[in-house]
Amino acid sequence: MTLQSIRKAAIIGAGQMGLGIAYVSAVHAKIPITIYDPSSSVLSSATDKYKSLISRDVSKSRLTSEQADEALSRFSTSQGDGSEGGGEGSIRDDVDLVIEAIPEIPALKLGLFKRLGNALTPSTILGSNTSSISITKLAASAGSGMGKEESQESSQRVIGIHYFNPVPVMKLVEIIPALQTSQQTIERAKAFGKACKKEVTTSTDSPGFIANAILMPMINEAIMVLERGIASPQDIDKTFQLGMSHPMGPLKLADLIGLDTCLNIQRVLHTETGDSKYRPATLLGRMVDAGWVGRKGGRGFYVYD
Ligand code: CAA
Repeated sequence: MTLQSIRKAAIIGAGQMGLGIAYVSAVHAKIPITIYDPSSSVLSSATDKYKSLISRDVSKSRLTSEQADEALSRFSTSQGDGSEGGGEGSIRDDVDLVIEAIPEIPALKLGLFKRLGNALTPSTILGSNTSSISITKLAASAGSGMGKEESQESSQRVIGIHYFNPVPVMKLVEIIPALQTSQQTIERAKAFGKACKKEVTTSTDSPGFIANAILMPMINEAIMVLERGIASPQDIDKTFQLGMSHPMGPLKLADLIGLDTCLNIQRVLHTETGDSKYRPATLLGRMVDAGWVGRKGGRGFYVYD
């Protein structure tokens, strides 16, 4: 089997994960990328952040000014969700890989995969950066509304490609094949993860995969310890930083990931397993209701400038 390389990619969602994936694709894998988002202000803020990451690389001598110019020329944006039927804001068929990084809401991702599956040629890999949603369901959605053979072809190019926040720094990508995913898609996705200078692990399509089946219950338990008044956020975090050598404690990490994302992941674990041990902490839900979603919103368990 010759491995067809990825020459061009589209990333859907210009939030913190989408931007990070765009950065490692353009800077490390050295391929042109277009990042899609329905919001022009989110796109313009992502562009500013991308430029400042590149400037930082230059100031730290990780990139020469020539390499920085190349990295800047590989980055473009388009307003839309990438699946809008051929017009402005739609992904073109010359793209080898799409990575979706939209909010962790099952109905949104399923709808997007259905539209992408119908719009894009089956040789285009459809990757999802989901933290917990079933890749097998996304693959089924990408193959829905078409004949049996087309459906099989469309589903087998779907795969989980799960990065970690902050993407430019964290050295891992989890690869999650759906039941329907072809071996060629798996090999191409792994090769792409390595081209982004990441180590790669493989997980079966099980709720939370490897990382979030373990991490999210730990964060949820830390919130329950806070809720029960056992200790302050500072002491809970200090316990993990100094007692277990974690780079940051679970509450500060929850603020970094985004409390809305943590809640959505925990809900998927709970619903998919039906196990009450995964019930989201009440305080987590209340904080999201209050709009205290962590670092990106200026307030979570801590307050940010
Ligand atoms: N984007 C790009 N670079 C960033 C960054 C960001 N958002 N945040 C920090 N960095 C860079 C800094 O620029 C700095 O780079 P230099 O070496 O060039 O100076 C480097 O990271 C270290 O940063 P700091 O000195 O500011 O701070 P630190 O040493 O405390 O490290 C940290 C910050 C990397 C975030 C570290 O605390 C850490 O590793 N925390 C744990 C993060 C983690 O567990 N992430 C996984 C979350 S789970 C997930 O994402 C998956 C999911 O499905 C929910």
